[in-house]
Amino acid sequence: MTHDRVALAFSGGLDTTVCVPLLEEEYDYDEVVGVTVDVGQPTAELEEAAETAAALGIEHHVLDATAAFAELCFDAVNANATYQGYPLGTALARPVIAEAIAELAAEEGYDALAHGCTGKGNDQLRFEAVWRASDFEVIAPVRELGLTRDWETEFAADRGLPVEGGDGGRYSVDSNLWTRSVEGSELEDPSTIPEESIYEWTQAPGDGAEQLTVAFEAGRPVAVDGEELDPVALIERLNARAGAHGVGRSDIMEDRMLGLKVRENYEHPAATVLLAAHEALEGLVLTQEERSFKQQVDQQWAETAYEGLIASPLVEALEGFIDATNARVTGTVTLRLEGGTVRPVARESEVSVYSERAASFDEADVAGNITQADATGVAKYHGFQSRLAQAAIERTQLSTAETETDEAGTDEETTRRLTQGG
Ligand code: ARG
Repeated sequence: MTHDRVALAFSGGLDTTVCVPLLEEEYDYDEVVGVTVDVGQPTAELEEAAETAAALGIEHHVLDATAAFAELCFDAVNANATYQGYPLGTALARPVIAEAIAELAAEEGYDALAHGCTGKGNDQLRFEAVWRASDFEVIAPVRELGLTRDWETEFAADRGLPVEGGDGGRYSVDSNLWTRSVEGSELEDPSTIPEESIYEWTQAPGDGAEQLTVAFEAGRPVAVDGEELDPVALIERLNARAGAHGVGRSDIMEDRMLGLKVRENYEHPAATVLLAAHEALEGLVLTQEERSFKQQVDQQWAETAYEGLIASPLVEALEGFIDATNARVTGTVTLRLEGGTVRPVARESEVSVYSERAASFDEADVAGNITQADATGVAKYHGFQSRLAQAAIERTQLSTAETETDEAGTDEETTRRLTQGG
């Protein structure tokens, strides 16, 4: 007789708790193993997951992926990554979680992998993009059985499943080192102003202000106020300091992968600070051409990361450009935290492209052997084609205003003029 085991991505929340008896009863698994991956969620959540697993009587593993996840968050900083204003915490965490679970399952010889995602969200796609690259059977009970939150709550009550505690089930919350997302309940109505109580990482913006300095080496944040910190500690430090000033709240309409438009609330103090700091330093050390092209590369990186496809060849190729430009993003940025905002106020770098001598109002020479008078020729040519176009319009009497006010009858004349060319 075989003993079939399924590894369930387990948070201890309502969805994944309900999945345990369903995997045994509806899918005939002999054993469900809960796997919680630590991507920097609050310790209380990890403890709650362990307690819930114990109460359910299942084997439970906690895998530490915080260091790998923090590196991925820094990759996102290098790409100035946000999707519609969201710094991508959940999106970045899912592939890391999926990978860690698949590795454990391969080591332990489990037969299948399961997640508790619904059929409406992005997370199902992100998990499965990783898992379907392996030979494991993939199971999504909530989606496949068409479960609703109300049904789950009732089922859990009937069966006496341990689902209390945490956020009490009113909201669906997902936290990791980079972002905390809050969905559901009255927040589903975009016209509802969130209660202050949905926030846990950020204080209501008050009157205080402070400054801090972030140091970067080749695009990677390495120190805060001169104190070197490893990536996880650095993110935690900034979450606390910027969160105290209400920095890093967003309330957005988000277009999900399946086309649904949803209202999302997020907290992400460290992400907001690091993204602002990194962009400020890029402004100092990159050329105009690099900055302009990088916006397109960054946008594509963020959209692909949102889809959970961080391991795709496209991302690797984009990172060729991102890494090449970030090689020079070394220096420090000072930022001011004040009333829910973060604002770069100073930046310094040894590899700065900025020349004070060239830009100064006080210097006669622009730089080297270039003088102000050399700009005369450039100024004469600037806008040359616009002037030629304007002259052509005037020559043919074809002004926009004229065509707009053209009445029927003169239309023919206009068409003739246009088709005859100039
Ligand atoms: N909408 C965000 C995303 O797709 C956050 C999802 C949060 N997930 C959750 N189960 N609350 O990345």
